[in-house]
Amino acid sequence: MTTPGITLLDAERFAELVTLGTRAPSLHNTQPWLFHRDGDAVEVFADPSRVLPATDPSGWGQRIAIGAAAYNLRLGYAQLGWRAETEPFPEAGEKHLVVRVHPVAEHRITPAERTVADAIPRRHTNRRPYLEAPVPAATLAALVHAADEEACRLTVLDARGVGEVSELIRDADAELERRRGYREELRRWCRDAGGPPDGVRWDRLTGRPHADERLRRRDFGAPTTSSDRRYESDPCLAVLTSSGDGRFDELRAGQALQHVLLRATSAGLTSSLYSQPIEVGAVRQRLSAVCGGGTPQMVVRVGYGLAHGPTPRRPIDEVIR
Ligand SMILES: Cc1cc2nc3c(=O)[nH]c(=O)nc-3n(C[C@H](O)[C@H](O)[C@H](O)COP(=O)(O)O)c2cc1C
Repeated sequence: MTTPGITLLDAERFAELVTLGTRAPSLHNTQPWLFHRDGDAVEVFADPSRVLPATDPSGWGQRIAIGAAAYNLRLGYAQLGWRAETEPFPEAGEKHLVVRVHPVAEHRITPAERTVADAIPRRHTNRRPYLEAPVPAATLAALVHAADEEACRLTVLDARGVGEVSELIRDADAELERRRGYREELRRWCRDAGGPPDGVRWDRLTGRPHADERLRRRDFGAPTTSSDRRYESDPCLAVLTSSGDGRFDELRAGQALQHVLLRATSAGLTSSLYSQPIEVGAVRQRLSAVCGGGTPQMVVRVGYGLAHGPTPRRPIDEVIR
């Protein structure tokens, strides 16, 4: 594909791609990835030192995060003028190698791709209260379409569905609190504002969840802030599902999640994630029933609100293998 002796992916371009990859979301901001240049391809490995055995014993969250990073890499290749494809788990003997992203053809970036690619640096998790403004149906349809393009499904919940899912989040959260090692992991990944560039910073948590909060935020034990703003009364929630429940499906769901979040960002929305109901098997099954079947991979909240700005990431030399 490339002229012999000419490498499409030189060190500088590889660094650009890795920077984009690291902007993906990850459970507790563990940034559980390592990037490797293999010719013109980028391989993403799961970092075995950045696991959450109590919260995420199966590694689901790692694969969602790496799927999201792979989606950013695809956009990065598109910016370089290439269409890239993902090859999940390409080598049976390499158990930590999750995905290889490689260019397959020259490609002029489309306006839609450019719009979502431009949103990569702006997307971040916003756990604050949002405005009471409803999200227009056409914008929600664009998010549904984004999931669809990655062979996943996004179900936007009606008021009844939001009520049911808020119960499921609460049940799952209570179950997780009883799980051995869970609280210790939250403590371990919670950071002061001046702390290392990973984990979840206290100033991003808007304090501990209130008893009357409709959607129970994960309780990192952060000190309560002085803000008394109330959460929106009618939150806009959607559930991302895949057709299967295997690791290939999780990787696909990670790409779909990132496509949805970037599409939301590009439409002026802000977002936050609730994965407690995914982390508790019995609750996940109930969630599947609420959204009409499939394997739930994430609960996504979107709305309008004041942006924080990007969440810190480790420097790329720490994530290159
Ligand atoms: C698999 C997965 C699960 C997540 N679950 C939650 C969650 O339950 N609650 C939450 O507040 N954030 C959740 N997040 C968001 C992460 O905390 C967030 O992505 C991370 O702190 C990095 O921040 P950023 O999204 O602003 O870049 C999740 C992210 C991923 C990828």
